[in-house]
Amino acid sequence: MCGIVGYMGKERAVDVLIEGLKRLEYRGYDSAGIAIQNGSGIELYKTKGKIRDLETIIPAGIGSVSKGIGHTRWATHGAPSTRNAHPHYIDGVAVVHNGIIENYREIRSFLEKEGVRFLSDTDTEVVPHLISYYLKQGYEDKQAILRTLTHLRGSYALGIMIESSQDRLYAVRNGSPLVVGLSEEEYFFASDIPALLPYTRRFIFLEDCHFCSIGSGGVEIEYIGDGLCKKVDVEGLIKEIDWSPSMAEKGGYEHFMLKEIYEQPRAVRDTINEWIDDPLKLLEELGITTKQMLEFNRLHIVACGTSYHAALVGRYIIEKLSRIPVDVDIASEYRYREPIIERGTLFISITQSGETADTLAAQREAKAHGARTLTICNVVGSTASREADSVLYTRAGPEIGVASTKAFTAQLAALALLGVALGIKKKRLTNGEVSTLKLQLKKVPELIERALKADETIKEISRSLTYARDFLYLGRGINFPIALEGALKLKEISYIHAEGYPAGEMKHGPIALVEEGVPSVFVAPVDELFSKTLSNMEEVKARGGRIIAVTDEPQYVEDKVDDVIAVPSAHPLFAPIVHVVPLQLLAYHIAVMRGCNVDQPRNLAKSVTVE
Ligand code: AGP
Repeated sequence: MCGIVGYMGKERAVDVLIEGLKRLEYRGYDSAGIAIQNGSGIELYKTKGKIRDLETIIPAGIGSVSKGIGHTRWATHGAPSTRNAHPHYIDGVAVVHNGIIENYREIRSFLEKEGVRFLSDTDTEVVPHLISYYLKQGYEDKQAILRTLTHLRGSYALGIMIESSQDRLYAVRNGSPLVVGLSEEEYFFASDIPALLPYTRRFIFLEDCHFCSIGSGGVEIEYIGDGLCKKVDVEGLIKEIDWSPSMAEKGGYEHFMLKEIYEQPRAVRDTINEWIDDPLKLLEELGITTKQMLEFNRLHIVACGTSYHAALVGRYIIEKLSRIPVDVDIASEYRYREPIIERGTLFISITQSGETADTLAAQREAKAHGARTLTICNVVGSTASREADSVLYTRAGPEIGVASTKAFTAQLAALALLGVALGIKKKRLTNGEVSTLKLQLKKVPELIERALKADETIKEISRSLTYARDFLYLGRGINFPIALEGALKLKEISYIHAEGYPAGEMKHGPIALVEEGVPSVFVAPVDELFSKTLSNMEEVKARGGRIIAVTDEPQYVEDKVDDVIAVPSAHPLFAPIVHVVPLQLLAYHIAVMRGCNVDQPRNLAKSVTVE
């Protein structure tokens, strides 16, 4: 997720761009840049670092400039650096981009065969090269851009400035947010409202396939989907927005955590889409050769906190699909127990931040023992990503809330992709099974959308749970790690004691905690262990406990439990990605009702960079 801004109008472009980027820094902040046009040519200023670092390289007396584009980056392809910073400027074409061009590798190799020399490692750079390619073939600006867009697959919000078009600025939306702001003889675009609130309250929320052309005469929008190019009524799209800047930064949500819970369909889609069509390409990208695959006889997956819970889910997925034995460990334990790391071990760390001290130490320990190391990480250029032999990036974007949500489901999506790829490589899956798995995994973002529709129901259920003292979270099989995750979410943001347990373990101790009204949350999709989970519910019910059931078949439990949270059915191996969502919402609403600081809970840090 990055932040883009564009401006055209009065002679204050540099100020508008810089101030706008500062208000978008929550979207990405590892590098930044602007491109401005003042009559003659385009000037480019960009640097690794924060917006304040960018300000230091912009000449003081740059004078009055009336047009420009800007970008603050959250790296997805290509480490944070000046050369990977946006705008990307090629032969008089400057581009800023938010999103992922999924097929950039094939476009890049096509252009390199045409003699194009790339300056960066980014996916974005293919865009100005393609526009320039078509301009050189004689297409005028708009057509050169439209032809370029026909090559792109993936999500993008683009800001485009072409040197030869001094009175034009272009913006395109497809899968990544983009708003247009309108004021007296001034026109703006940005990834999000906060960037433009100081200048206007009149916005157009561009839709997918909207091509926007901004000129001294105003804003023109055309719908360019389905091979069309149809004018859109601009006046009818204008909305007056009365959000405060703080509300706007959270996209209108009360907290970043809720915003990030609702971003999960996009986070999972972006993580899956890059590799789902050809999972074996993922192993190539990870540098895992067929020979190495034959050697791999054990995986160690190591992480902390929520990422550890993802690792536990990963074990079920990878062992089921590839039959490679998987050991899972908490990093702070792994690093001190002199782990037995034999030849043929693939070590996988899972870390949202890429900076967790215990996880880094465990990864270094494994590497020192000769294991091949792979990290599943959300931050390009982080320590874990630089030190591992290979990196499988989640595409969740910056996660601001301390309680991890979208990064977790993106980690599960990445583990699902890895499990399918390893299963194919180990020849454990038939073609039919692979097709089914791909189809089912592609459905997950839409299933998360459907799971989110239970939000109001969950909020109502939360009201009577707000002052409970103890919670049990219970699940069997692959649902057990989701029970652990649900318990962690609740305790870390509401400060209520909560324990996750294998439901089958109740009779070995935890059931002693159950008495009148003590809530037990069951993660209970109808799967091969459902009937056993039903028995566990009966055990709790018989002792007066309160039961909240998360299930895809409410009719089987309605008469046994106190509250039902319905979730859509999903492939058993991918169901955790969907069924964790109501548990995140339950924790969120209870914490809000208790008046807790949901985004920054007491005693916690977003990244634990110390032991
Ligand atoms: C999750 O909600 C917590 N914030 C915490 O457990 C976190 O998952 C853990 O500290 C690991 O962080 P990492 O993924 O950045 O390594």
